[in-house]
Amino acid sequence: MSFTDVLRIAGQYHVKTAPPFIPGGEAAGQIIELGTGVTGFTVGDRVLCGGGFAEETVQPAASLIKLPENISFEAAAAFRSNYTTALYALQRARLQPGETLLVHGAAGGVGLATVDVGKLMGARVIATARNPERLEICMRLGADHVIDYSSGFRDQVLSLTGGRGADVIFDPVGGDVFDESMRAIAPFGRILIVGFTSGRPAVAKTNHLLVKDAEVVGFTIGALNRLDPERARRNLDVLVGWLGAGRISPYHSHALPLAQAAEALRLIVERKVIGKALLV
Ligand SMILES: NC(=O)c1ccc[n+]([C@@H]2O[C@H](COP(=O)([O-])OP(=O)(O)OC[C@H]3O[C@@H](n4cnc5c(N)ncnc54)[C@H](OP(=O)(O)O)[C@@H]3O)[C@@H](O)[C@H]2O)c1
Repeated sequence: MSFTDVLRIAGQYHVKTAPPFIPGGEAAGQIIELGTGVTGFTVGDRVLCGGGFAEETVQPAASLIKLPENISFEAAAAFRSNYTTALYALQRARLQPGETLLVHGAAGGVGLATVDVGKLMGARVIATARNPERLEICMRLGADHVIDYSSGFRDQVLSLTGGRGADVIFDPVGGDVFDESMRAIAPFGRILIVGFTSGRPAVAKTNHLLVKDAEVVGFTIGALNRLDPERARRNLDVLVGWLGAGRISPYHSHALPLAQAAEALRLIVERKVIGKALLV
């Protein structure tokens, strides 16, 4: 489960779902039954799939991905939406090896995945989060530098980059964090608009963009899945390959039984989850 589930249930997500509905967008599990005419799968196969807060789900065969044997259901269920978002975001930002990548909300689901993928793509990663425990996990996933951004981050980013700023900024927080990011971005920098966990979308000042030769890049993984499913599938195949080869490390701080789904959502809202919260 993720912050997006929180928004969807609260009716605050940009794609509205009329209640009643079963929340949740991704799962991993075992096939227990096949529809008529389905080929390429057998009962017992371990797969990544869509689905919700449920013990059983009916999913189109075309949407299933077979899991490598060495991947646990927990790792798989903590993986798909966060890592596809991270990879697509960094592609949209045209991240180059050696560039400095600043990841905000880096202990959160998409943030931590972006630290992981950013390192794999050869970036120097600066991660921001709110307390030492969260920053420690960011270091474990490979961040080169961590900053507690509770009282700001601009000066530290400038000091770490010799006054230049970050080439790519991944921002799932918005609000004040976006505003300060505009003062910590390098010339020709790209800032990715991922979400607004602060509760406030920021207004990008075009005069700042002009003087920095900077770009603001908005994106949603949902649009990629809908409008360019072939590219989405290619990215997912790459990520499943990395996962099977142990090159990326999906992280979850909590795994709760389905009956405690409401508690898990509360933990997300209270910013207590690191990486992902799972229902098992
Ligand atoms: N564009 C896309 O395609 C896409 C895809 C997936 C998700 N998203 C969006 O990205 C955002 C993050 O998703 P996520 O799953 O990573 O969420 P998450 O796991 O809850 O992480 C979000 C992080 O934001 C930080 N944060 C800062 N201010 C916050 C506040 N006022 N309330 C809550 N958190 C705050 C928290 O870190 P600290 O406590 O350490 O500050 C938290 O770890 C959401 O808005 C989601 O809808 C967008």
